[in-house]
Amino acid sequence: MKRTFIALGLTASMLAAAACQTTGPGAAGDKVRIGVFMSLTGSTAQFGISSTNGIKMAADEINAAGGVNGKQIELLVQDDRSDAQEAATIVTKFVTQDGVHGIIGEVASSRTIAAAPIAQNAKVPLLTPSSTNPEVTKKGDYIFRSCFIDPVQGAAMSQFAAKSLGKKRAALMVDRKNDYSTGLEKVINEVFPRLGGQVVITQSYQEGDTDFNGQLTSIKGADPDVIFIPGYYGDVALIAKQARDKGLNVPLVGGDGWDSAQLYTIGGASVVGSYFTNHYSPFDTDPKVQKFVQGYQQRYGQIPDALAATAYDAALIMFDAVKRANSLDGKAGKYVIQERVVVEGAAMPTGTGSGGANANASPVANTNAAGNANAGAGTNANANTAPANANASPVKP
Ligand code: PHE
Repeated sequence: MKRTFIALGLTASMLAAAACQTTGPGAAGDKVRIGVFMSLTGSTAQFGISSTNGIKMAADEINAAGGVNGKQIELLVQDDRSDAQEAATIVTKFVTQDGVHGIIGEVASSRTIAAAPIAQNAKVPLLTPSSTNPEVTKKGDYIFRSCFIDPVQGAAMSQFAAKSLGKKRAALMVDRKNDYSTGLEKVINEVFPRLGGQVVITQSYQEGDTDFNGQLTSIKGADPDVIFIPGYYGDVALIAKQARDKGLNVPLVGGDGWDSAQLYTIGGASVVGSYFTNHYSPFDTDPKVQKFVQGYQQRYGQIPDALAATAYDAALIMFDAVKRANSLDGKAGKYVIQERVVVEGAAMPTGTGSGGANANASPVANTNAAGNANAGAGTNANANTAPANANASPVKP
């Protein structure tokens, strides 16, 4: 298990937001049909593979226990090849041909943003387990998420770097075409200076680039004491390697997009001593988390990453919503805001306000009326009122 040696730097078990009292949709039938669109191949294949594993595990558990209101769950899993256009095409097919009652996907915010308007127009509830950009749920009132958002995560990253690591001069490496990366860039630029730091240089790259020498030379020249890299694991691992080759040995700080065993496989020693925020840690001693970790390990022979955990929770939330609505009609569920909780240390909202009733587009977390949406993997999928907390565990060789 690579994760025993791993580098899980910062694990921030943070707040989730608007929980998903969504409902099951669609036509009557003897099955609950759920479309799952994920990146099973391409640059972020591990995101989709882990997420799909978590969803299948949840569906099997519920089916073995008799299904949802007597109906078995049927998953339609489609690979979007890590491509936003393909994600939109798949979701179009889900709603026009497959008659799905609900949709789970994607991981990458840019891909969920591309697909969400299609689900919204068709009034089919879409739940993303792990897309953290605030824009996602602004696409409409059929679009839900069961994870924290980037104003919270970006604030945790900034606070950790400024306060826990005592850093003052940050460099930023941003994936310019990625909504997740640019969203976090914005939050870091707001929060890190408020905490006494300064962003001394920003450089950009694009997913799939392999040569970062130009950017890293400029960064070295700016003499930072920390480098924020709000990107995905494949690019981050290469950037880390090339930074170390250049003698840039300051800690790197990232977000949930780092979470993949591939980070350590590709990055090796170069990621040791760096940190990232995340939805969950397999080392969490909460019995619910450990039950999930053991079940997943038995089934797949691997320690589940945050994608597996968040997707497992999202699937249980979706199934629970169908059950409560007692209907396969997507319009059948109700959503109520119980309370708005201001998350300590989170960035204040930027840009436009929140969208539909379910929009969790600010560090204000909406707690749902039910309080507990049946999430089992400990990803804080439903809102709890604890302030965001960041557990730092530096990577050790
Ligand atoms: N939060 C990332 C995004 O919105 C996706 C992600 C979630 C990646 C969890 C890894 C782990 O793009």
